[in-house]
Amino acid sequence: MQFFIDTANLSEIEEAQAMGVVDGVTTNPSLMAKENIIGPDAIKAHYKAICNLVYDNVSAEVIATDFEGMIKEGRALAKIDDKIVVKVPMTKDGVKAIKYLSNQGIRTNCTLVFTTGQAILAAKAGASYVSPFIGRMDDISHHGMGLITQIAQVYQTFECTTKVLAASIRHTMHLIRCAEEGADVATAPFQVIEGLFNHPMTDIGLARFLSDFNEVNEGEESTEALKAEKNTLEEKIAIG
Ligand code: G3P
Repeated sequence: MQFFIDTANLSEIEEAQAMGVVDGVTTNPSLMAKENIIGPDAIKAHYKAICNLVYDNVSAEVIATDFEGMIKEGRALAKIDDKIVVKVPMTKDGVKAIKYLSNQGIRTNCTLVFTTGQAILAAKAGASYVSPFIGRMDDISHHGMGLITQIAQVYQTFECTTKVLAASIRHTMHLIRCAEEGADVATAPFQVIEGLFNHPMTDIGLARFLSDFNEVNEGEESTEALKAEKNTLEEKIAIG
């Protein structure tokens, strides 16, 4: 399963890229606004800066809601860099625009998807990716993961080339469940991806390895320091 990072923050993207486990970036108008990117020139430059940090797969969302406007914006976004994937909302004009842009060879990501029916329309229009929003469904007591399961099954049944890009991810279990349910991609905030590294037993185990090694291989002072670190970690665990 590919990991995309869901942010427009250049520092987070740079750090995620350096970790070597992120395969792309998704942005949206809210994430761009959060970075205070104002005006067409600044927006274009920011998308280019993101493209310069990663190998591929940079989702940039249109603002227009009408077919003609989406087409005009979509083509302009695609010209910024070959890595750009044009993000289009799941509306009637959006599906028409996805169909048009896909026929022009422009990659598209159909966003704000909340039902399998919407995902089927996106696939029929030739979308490269479909973005079901898990977290926003969970936020209103709907079964976000169930949507991923059903879309993945339908796409597999009909051998759809559209990739399931699980979005609106809130925590590490969403990432793990998406992998279990067959999502092609999961896009998540940096902290959620980073959270996959964490387990206290890993920390304690590493401290023990180093302590045992240094007890017989190096000076007393380093062993004492490692013992103190191990005790601190075990205290943290005890506190919970
Ligand atoms: O960027 C698309 C999606 O991942 C946004 O999710 O619910 O955290 O705003 P959300």
